[in-house]
Amino acid sequence: MLATAHSSVLVGLAAHPVRVEVQATRGVPCFELVGLAEIAVRESRVRVKSALAQLGVDLSECRVVVNMAPADVKKRGSGFDLAIAMATLVSLGILPAETLGDVLFLGELSLDGTLHPLRGLVAHLLGAKQRGVARVIVPAANESEASLVDGIEVGIAGTLAELVAALRGQQPLLTVAARSELLVPLACDDLGDVRGQATARRALEIAAAGAHNLLFIGPPGAGKTMLARRLPGILPSLSRAESLEVLAVQSVAGLLSGPRRVGTRPFRAPHHTASEAALVGGGELARPGEVSLAHQGVLFLDELSEFRRGTLESLRQPLEDGFVTISRAQTVATFPARPMLIGATNPCPCGRQGDGTTRCHCRLDHIRAYRSKLSGPLIDRLDIHVSLAPVDVLELQARASGERSAAVRARVERARGIQRERMRTKEASASANAHLGVRDLERVCALDEAGSNLIANAVRSLGLSARAYGKVLRVARTIADLEGATALAVDHVAEAVSARVLDRGRLSIAGDAA
Ligand SMILES: Nc1ncnc2c1ncn2[C@@H]1O[C@H](COP(=O)(O)OP(=O)(O)OP(=O)(O)O)[C@@H](O)[C@H]1O
Ligand SMILES: [Mg+2]
Repeated sequence: MLATAHSSVLVGLAAHPVRVEVQATRGVPCFELVGLAEIAVRESRVRVKSALAQLGVDLSECRVVVNMAPADVKKRGSGFDLAIAMATLVSLGILPAETLGDVLFLGELSLDGTLHPLRGLVAHLLGAKQRGVARVIVPAANESEASLVDGIEVGIAGTLAELVAALRGQQPLLTVAARSELLVPLACDDLGDVRGQATARRALEIAAAGAHNLLFIGPPGAGKTMLARRLPGILPSLSRAESLEVLAVQSVAGLLSGPRRVGTRPFRAPHHTASEAALVGGGELARPGEVSLAHQGVLFLDELSEFRRGTLESLRQPLEDGFVTISRAQTVATFPARPMLIGATNPCPCGRQGDGTTRCHCRLDHIRAYRSKLSGPLIDRLDIHVSLAPVDVLELQARASGERSAAVRARVERARGIQRERMRTKEASASANAHLGVRDLERVCALDEAGSNLIANAVRSLGLSARAYGKVLRVARTIADLEGATALAVDHVAEAVSARVLDRGRLSIAGDAA
């Protein structure tokens, strides 16, 4: 008889349902698999045959035809093994048809019938929950990942034999209890450890309050990396829906099996030698890149001037759109990509230019070449540029530590609350000032005459682009929100303009050379 089991395949983060139809009859032995399956799926014939043999089911005199539908979706990976095995057992009359019912089967089989975990389980479960699937059966090794998603019944089994026994009622089917405490943020480094650097701390707070991209420029050892690593600790905590989206990306990338970082905003710091594919995603299986792994969190590009220009340019589109599209034959995978981008760099090759000492001996053309790596469209996308001086020794020796992360986070959360209210949305990330659309910008950033004149002068004297103009306005709005001010005042604009040091720096280098 014809038996149909349900399974699913991931395209990006989206889980598409797949029907596995099996017709097993006595006859010339063969095991056919049709329905746009790639090699790993076709290899499941060997695994399923061997795993069934362990149950005493001999397919050596059977003709088994497997069709995977819909035929226009490419079937990837080894997660269909379990569905194929289950449908075969029902087709042979070994299990009753009701066992397949409204159940989704996911899992790879080994030759001895053990179920191996699969990647992207969170994304599979979120998709199944959305489609209203009643129950999902997954490998026991995926239990902790399965416990992250609530509102759907998940059964687990360690081996095919265990599952068959449970479905025959010979033993209970173990189910997974959703554990919401796993979504509680973990503690991270505290801003209180950072001494001095008042301007940089203020910039970090403004950036967090409006989800603005930020660039730190300063000498070695001033605390750029230290500050950037403390950003997740002052960002508002993730909502449950946001957490699950972050976990789904990590799950697809196979990052959930290691130590748990669940519930915390992601912080990704790829090395400057990272390839374009590592940064934006790609590869044959269309895996998410760093920009997607940092979604809802922080993408930290330390030593920004050391990154290859082409690699940085590849980030431009995702940062603008908030998502990445990876095209492969027959599939277009989409991953979310809305991190805060934080860059850090030295001001010149030796790192000491402009630090108030006379120790920098870099030639002007070397400084210009060094900075030119930074200039251009990517810098234009960084809303705030802040210059750090070396930390004063007295500040380092001071007993009192700086303000702690919790106090800063409270102000950031208040400012984000104002932004959410203004945009009338529950989605914290979408309502942040950094993502204001052009039309909203006009509405929420109306300037008085003094503010208008100040920004007009800044645009002319610094040669700001139209994009940079919009960024200054958005940052000014955030500064006003941190203060709880309804109207944009000239002081807010002035502080936002002063946070474009790189534009000013570029100007002074050009001036020196003239
Ligand atoms: N403002 C600061 N307060 C307290 N400690 C600091 C501060 N700045 C630097 N340090 C100490 O110096 C170490 C190095 O700082 P950090 O790595 O952040 O410097 P950096 O600016 O990133 O330098 P580089 O340009 O070489 O990357 C820190 O781990 C910390 O111990
Ligand atoms: Mg550093």
